[in-house]
Amino acid sequence: MNADTPDDMCEFVIFGGTGDLARRMLYPSLYFLDKEGFLPPEFSILGSARQALAADAFQALVREALETFVPDAHLDEAAWDRFRARLTYCALDAQKPEDYASLAEALACGPDADKVFFLATKPGLYGDICGQLSAAGLIGPRARVVLEKPIGVDLASSRQINAAVGRAFNERQIFRIDHYLGKETVQNLIALRFANALFEPLWNARGIDHVQITVSETVGVEGRWSYYNESGALRDMVQNHILQLLCLVAMEPPASLDPDAMRDEKVKVLRSLAPITTATARDCVVRGQYGEGVSGGASAAGYAEEAGGEESATETFVALRAGIENWRWAGVPFYLRTGKRMPERRTEIIIQFKDVPHSIFSGLAARDVAANKLVIRLQPQEDISLLLMNKKPGISGNGMRLQPLALNLSLTDAFQKQRPRRRIAYERLFLDIINNDPTQFVRRDEVEAAWAWIDGISAAWADADDAPEPYAAGSWGPAASVRLTERSGHTWHA
Ligand code: BG6
Repeated sequence: MNADTPDDMCEFVIFGGTGDLARRMLYPSLYFLDKEGFLPPEFSILGSARQALAADAFQALVREALETFVPDAHLDEAAWDRFRARLTYCALDAQKPEDYASLAEALACGPDADKVFFLATKPGLYGDICGQLSAAGLIGPRARVVLEKPIGVDLASSRQINAAVGRAFNERQIFRIDHYLGKETVQNLIALRFANALFEPLWNARGIDHVQITVSETVGVEGRWSYYNESGALRDMVQNHILQLLCLVAMEPPASLDPDAMRDEKVKVLRSLAPITTATARDCVVRGQYGEGVSGGASAAGYAEEAGGEESATETFVALRAGIENWRWAGVPFYLRTGKRMPERRTEIIIQFKDVPHSIFSGLAARDVAANKLVIRLQPQEDISLLLMNKKPGISGNGMRLQPLALNLSLTDAFQKQRPRRRIAYERLFLDIINNDPTQFVRRDEVEAAWAWIDGISAAWADADDAPEPYAAGSWGPAASVRLTERSGHTWHA
């Protein structure tokens, strides 16, 4: 057993235990944790869904998921045998009270044991499930519940869900998961900002011209049309992952890594976001929907065609200019952009510093001396580069020539020995859940502050009642996204 493993955690119950998320992410993550000795010996994993399944059929389903989503090199039979022995199953209809009696019987540990209920179901069921667990007497003081995003579709529905869950669990027992917070490079942002004294004096409106956050994906909606069509890029990506990245870039230094110290600072950022309204949305938000095009070298169908030709006003791309109204960030644009069927998969944060105040180089105005830029790449590679101006080597008759060069730090190379494989973001977060550490989980006030801001944009779109702008699959979104940055004299980082 690994030294970081608590020895009293007993059981991990997954609602939605036969679903896509469980198969793609949850079982592979638990398998890796087990293989590397992070799970206590007596720890069991109970999958639960409506489907009736015998224990061995459930184990076969998990095995198949591992064969599909874990690279062959990491699947080994001894590890699988140990993992399989932990797996049990209980069929349950989340809304039927009598099914919770069967669940109580199937649980390996009593209500007072340390256990986790992971809800990977539709968010509309979260309140019911927690209420039923409570009524069945299954929630003890050491139980915790994990909620997957999205928590609702707007502020009102998220409040309802949070209130219903809050009647069964207290806030300290509720872990709202945003898997971006489990990514190595996202956690590294905290180290970069708060373990280096170098950046802080410049990390404000006096030193920074603007910030860009891009999360682009080459995939389309991957068979998740019915969920995605209700959600769209704004709710699926901006409300959670992108706003969390923005918080980590923009927050004040917390006094410590104490869970509430961190989350207090993040929520202040969310509450300082300048509201986007019907009057301002046209100027600062662009939404798009992909049509047919070419993606990854092959022709790709448009969004509507993927849904059998059904027309939809759901956006698969959104770009926006956000502002943070506080002393540190007043006047600094934060450009946020995400889309499906983009030319490449890329998650990056660009910190564009200010121009030099005056140029001493003949023939070059201050704005022609390229400003320093910090590029933090999270996906697919993990690296950080700082663009600095340098003298162009050689001699010239008309003064010194300059060129930008990058100071590069490849995290992939630097960590190669210490980290033989890239972890699934859920692995780290599971360990935090097991260790009862909510620092990297989203507090209720954070989710609600994020929704309050997103609701302004949704309302503006509803008022405008126009369709998303089309873009070809495999392009960087509608042309209006380029104009969005150009209007303020900026361009998207290529
Ligand atoms: C999920 C979204 O939360 O994040 C998906 O629902 C998206 O639509 C995914 O594809 C992106 O996650 P990652 O880790 O692949 O960047």
